[in-house]
Amino acid sequence: MRAQVRVNPLRLGFLGVGWIGRNRMNSLVSSGIGYPAAVADVSRESAVAAAREDSLVLGSLEELVGCDDLDGIVIATPSALHAHQAVKALESGFPVFCQKPLGRNAEEVRGVVGAARKGDLLLGVDMSYRFMEPVRIARGLLERKAIGKVYAVDAFFHNAYGPDKAWFYDPELSGGGCVIDLGIHLVDLALWFSGFAPVKDVKSCLYRQGKRIRGGCGEVEDYASVGIDLGDDVHINMACSWKLPAGCDALIGMTLYGTEGALSLQNVNGSFYDFSLTENRGTGKEVLFMPPDPWGGRALIDWAQKLSKSGSFDESIEDVSVVADVLDAVYLNS
Ligand SMILES: NC(=O)c1ccc[n+]([C@@H]2O[C@H](COP(=O)([O-])OP(=O)(O)OC[C@H]3O[C@@H](n4cnc5c(N)ncnc54)[C@H](O)[C@@H]3O)[C@@H](O)[C@H]2O)c1
Repeated sequence: MRAQVRVNPLRLGFLGVGWIGRNRMNSLVSSGIGYPAAVADVSRESAVAAAREDSLVLGSLEELVGCDDLDGIVIATPSALHAHQAVKALESGFPVFCQKPLGRNAEEVRGVVGAARKGDLLLGVDMSYRFMEPVRIARGLLERKAIGKVYAVDAFFHNAYGPDKAWFYDPELSGGGCVIDLGIHLVDLALWFSGFAPVKDVKSCLYRQGKRIRGGCGEVEDYASVGIDLGDDVHINMACSWKLPAGCDALIGMTLYGTEGALSLQNVNGSFYDFSLTENRGTGKEVLFMPPDPWGGRALIDWAQKLSKSGSFDESIEDVSVVADVLDAVYLNS
């Protein structure tokens, strides 16, 4: 049995400590709220490199769930493994924080959320962009109707490089290409900003190396243009890509157009990490936020803060199922 009363720092088990697993672990340790009591990776070298002084070094989820003094499990393995591993961890009684995507499709995502609900266990997913300071400011302004009624959202996420690991390019292992890798953040933010208004229609055009492809064709897309209609007459126009000749490392942005103005979130100088926020009126704009803002680990820290109070199921995780439905429709309606 896991400890009934959790004391800081939380004793957490980390499964998969490649690039993002290490990055998030470092943020969590710096926050002081959690500690990698156990680190598991199929690569022993990676596990040893990530482990702290008194972390247990393990090789699998099976060994991790055998550690009954952990407060929760943090998963950052390749995408195809998330759903199965998260369900196993939850069914073993552990609260879970998982990298996005939680599953390769909505059925997998619902399976994990259902397991968390059944076990009354806290489940978190790393929808990291929600935790940027300019996003927090924008959401507050939208709640106060600062730009009137929002009717259109223009969003893009172009990564001039594309992933450097082979598994991202195999749909069986990744669930898809740039849409499930990058577009997922845009869909999540746009729906979250809209208060998860019902999705009425989704249309998409997918490309692979300049050729039009269909979802489910066995190839992953490297360019996507997607249109999403929400109830209340809101239209979302979204594009995302890998390896686009963007003229810089990345082009990332989202502008929300309202009847009385616009809010525009943009990456600064092609950065993956630095974002500005402006409020636009006609041809004028006011800068509301400029970097720096170290936001990368905040979703995990937020989950850990909730866990330190209660490890119970949190209804708000249902948002990931709605986002997964949209991504399914992007692949189905291409
Ligand atoms: N939230 C975000 O913004 C964000 C950003 C980057 C990556 N991600 C997601 O994080 C996940 C990992 O991405 P990455 O770039 O760190 O990949 P990665 O390949 O660098 O890391 C994956 C790690 O998992 C390990 N692993 C593989 N199979 C395993 C198993 N069965 N058990 C234990 N360990 C196993 C690998 O050895 C590796 O160390 C992906 O799903 C990706 O989409 C999310």
